[in-house]
Amino acid sequence: MATPAHVVLDPAFVVGPIDPRIFGSFVEHLGRCVYTGIYEPGHPSADAQGFRTDVLDLVRELGVTTVRYPGGNFVSGYKWEDGVGPRAARPRRLDLAWRTIETNEIGTDEFMDWARKAEVEPMMAINLGTRGMEEAIDYLEYCNFPAGTEPADTRVTNGHEAPHDIRLWCLGNEMDGPWQMGHKTAAEYGRLAAETARAMRRADTDLQLVACGSSSRHMPTFGAWEREVLTEAYDQVDFISLHAYYEPKDGDTESFLVAADDMHRFIDAVVATADHVGASLKSEKVINLSFDEWNVWFQSRFAGEQNLPVQPAGAQIEDIYDVHDAVVVGSLLITLLQHADRVKVACLAQLVNAIAPILTVPGGPAWRQTIFHPFALTARYAKGRVLRAGVVSPVVATAAFPEASQLWSTATYDETTGALVVFACNRSVGDELGLTVDLSGFGSATLVEHVALHDDDPTAINDAEHPDRVVPKPGNAGIDGTVATATLPAASWHMLRFQVER
Ligand code: AHR
Repeated sequence: MATPAHVVLDPAFVVGPIDPRIFGSFVEHLGRCVYTGIYEPGHPSADAQGFRTDVLDLVRELGVTTVRYPGGNFVSGYKWEDGVGPRAARPRRLDLAWRTIETNEIGTDEFMDWARKAEVEPMMAINLGTRGMEEAIDYLEYCNFPAGTEPADTRVTNGHEAPHDIRLWCLGNEMDGPWQMGHKTAAEYGRLAAETARAMRRADTDLQLVACGSSSRHMPTFGAWEREVLTEAYDQVDFISLHAYYEPKDGDTESFLVAADDMHRFIDAVVATADHVGASLKSEKVINLSFDEWNVWFQSRFAGEQNLPVQPAGAQIEDIYDVHDAVVVGSLLITLLQHADRVKVACLAQLVNAIAPILTVPGGPAWRQTIFHPFALTARYAKGRVLRAGVVSPVVATAAFPEASQLWSTATYDETTGALVVFACNRSVGDELGLTVDLSGFGSATLVEHVALHDDDPTAINDAEHPDRVVPKPGNAGIDGTVATATLPAASWHMLRFQVER
């Protein structure tokens, strides 16, 4: 076997505490995410409100903590008023983002009911594309003000006496993108975001607000956009957003498997830019990062919004994920953890059907895509603090990243329970990798389990007929004293759980 990789861990070397909100996801009015995804009255599993309980069960199993809603591109043309009040009176409206006829059967109040059932915190996005400050304040008042004003009383009349009490808000979506309804320059958006945030904080003093950053690290305005927006809005916002989607471009699987390097550089660059603005403003405040859209998305197979047929919520961008995609998703989760000191919110985009870990058939079953598994296991077991792992690894040379580390790894340690977890990927397409993990800094530890996601056929997928074709399986790790060893097959994701004796 080629040179092995080594990981050294010590409880004294810490990146930061894990904010549970990094295990967020995203429900957009896009394709079948809402209609026949989370909501399908008449489905055998539907509850009294029409929510699919089979999907709710999977959402809870996935371990999602926070769900962003209602978009995405959709929000930049959305009239929130269309989606509240008696259903029979709600208008049908053409959604220009996805060229869909939106029936407004599901709106804010229903989403909030669903979020309570799914046990997730809402992350609400406001429309700063076609609309502005006034509608945003009305919406905030509708959601959070107890009663005694027109918007709040409307909510009460609509059957929600208690305020929805939404703390986390996105100030628009991807406003840097020319595809966005109401796309703006950084200066235009920065001013609007700052003024809207200032007004929202007058209405509710306990909000956490996310300003739009770049739609990807490869946008022509990336860097300058963050600098200009934060220069305007630094004092008014808490987070700057990042979005990134990955796919094997031109069949380059080698570069795809190390896509986490792109996410890593993206995060570092946004941290540097935010801190530069903070330094220029002589501010003590730290702006954290909300990576509120990330996933594998085969965008090259997507014909573009302009070419979509106008239809009521039909299938759109229902990508099917294989083993390689799951390994990449696992590696992106590792990257988010590696940056736990600054990434405090993250959303796997999206949750059901549209580029999602959960797929459904209308009237039929719901099942877990391959990418469901690394997410669910990481969300369940990454607790406490992220450790700064010392990693020595062979390199894989790819076209996009000529010196990528073959091993991509991080570790979490919960000192209240002694649970120590190592997450690792072998990012080589063809070569297995030996791994040693030195735990001597912990004194004594036992190996609880080693779970691996790998398949001899990396194109294997889960579908309605074979929902468990790809599932995590026991790995081959062992431990001798305080040194654990394992062999990681090519293109594989791993979780090694240890119990530290204290
Ligand atoms: O998640 C799909 C789309 O990707 C979102 O609507 C948009 O924000 C991004 O471009």
